[in-house]
Amino acid sequence: MELPTVLFLLFVSVQSKLHIFDAKVTKIPAQKGTRIYFLTNGNEANLTLFTVKAEKSQIDTNIFAFSVPQADGSLNPLVVTADNDTVFVTRPDGDTTPVTLFQDRVTENLNVFPVFENSALQFKAGKNVYFAVDKPNGKILTIQNLKVDRQKDGYLRAYSGVPGDLIPEPYLFFTSDVYTDITFYQQLDIPINEFSLDPVFDGVSYTVGFGYLTITLQSSGLIMSPEFPITQQPSDMSFNVNRNGDEDISLHMNTYFYRSLSYNTEITVRFGFGVENVQSFPSELNGRLGASGKINSVEVSSIGAYALQYWTNSTATNSEGSTIPAGQGTTPSIITTTNSSYFISNSLSILTLIVSLLIGC
Ligand SMILES: *[C@@H]1O[C@H](CO)[C@@H](O)[C@H](O)[C@H]1NC(C)=O
Ligand SMILES: *[C@@H]1O[C@H](CO)[C@@H](O)[C@H](O)[C@H]1NC(C)=O
Ligand SMILES: *[C@@H]1O[C@H](CO)[C@@H](O)[C@H](O)[C@H]1NC(C)=O
Ligand SMILES: *[C@@H]1O[C@H](CO)[C@@H](O)[C@H](O)[C@H]1NC(C)=O
Repeated sequence: MELPTVLFLLFVSVQSKLHIFDAKVTKIPAQKGTRIYFLTNGNEANLTLFTVKAEKSQIDTNIFAFSVPQADGSLNPLVVTADNDTVFVTRPDGDTTPVTLFQDRVTENLNVFPVFENSALQFKAGKNVYFAVDKPNGKILTIQNLKVDRQKDGYLRAYSGVPGDLIPEPYLFFTSDVYTDITFYQQLDIPINEFSLDPVFDGVSYTVGFGYLTITLQSSGLIMSPEFPITQQPSDMSFNVNRNGDEDISLHMNTYFYRSLSYNTEITVRFGFGVENVQSFPSELNGRLGASGKINSVEVSSIGAYALQYWTNSTATNSEGSTIPAGQGTTPSIITTTNSSYFISNSLSILTLIVSLLIGC
């Protein structure tokens, strides 16, 4: 047996909502109202050969129309119209096009966007979910030119993963509410494969696409460790701060850690004249950092995940470096080991599934 088959069978055996006869046919039990989204960067000729059938819903077609985005970039889902139906997706012999299936039945106003190398996806009213289907070299998912208009009740909250994830549940990594005076962010770095944005109906604009990791802190943005929120890989990142001549910079950071794991994240602020200030943040508390002075750079070091929402201002009132821990944590429930079979069987709710259609062997 080849490795993909073994992994697939493991997945199937613990995820009772999925049954696969062989690596080429994917069988999905579905209810009335189930929406299935096909995420792929495959080409038309290949996708039209992937068949999809569901007897009770009288579906007998191919996946092309459900894999190619509409004008606004979102997908038109396949909708199951009968209860207790079964959807069969069949991969043509020898085809290796990567296709992932995302299923949802409960999220209202859901928009699902595949993100391609050349995507520049605009805000759409509703719950927006983004999947990287391309993996352009050296680039990550980003939100750019985020504008939040409070006069129109604009706000934005961003979560890792997709609705229906159980471990971890979609995990908050950005909220425009924490800094009420900041209404524009140049770039949020999102070096993960899937994320979602809360429904907002007005007063927000942005572009989602691929971009380069932040190297120099902007006036406002977000930096994030890879594999947020679950990672136990050490990650050290360093950021420059643009400072003109002798001016002071003020820096404000709001931290997001994975509270179910216990680890420390150190943030070092380096000032001119060789002065530095190191603060250690425990993951159980979402702390805040405020520093001002002749800041040259910032370093972040952690063995766990972090996302840091920040803004800077070049006219500071203090000349001393200072840090202000703030925010009270809830009691953490600490999990120090992750059992992989446990992880798989619990990582998605029964209402939402992501399936990678494996390549036939
Ligand atoms: C669907 O299946 C369940 C359980 O087998 C059954 O109780 C229900 O009546 C079925 N619904 C329809 C519409 O067939
Ligand atoms: C797409 O289809 C063509 C023609 O059948 C085939 O040669 C090619 O390998 C397919 N592409 C992939 C990625 O499987
Ligand atoms: C930045 O500093 C200037 C001058 O002190 C102040 O007017 C402005 O409100 C500050 N910006 C923010 C976002 O606080
Ligand atoms: C992982 O979890 C499963 C199911 O709870 C259990 O049977 C197994 O012994 C666990 N394995 C380890 C290494 O803890």
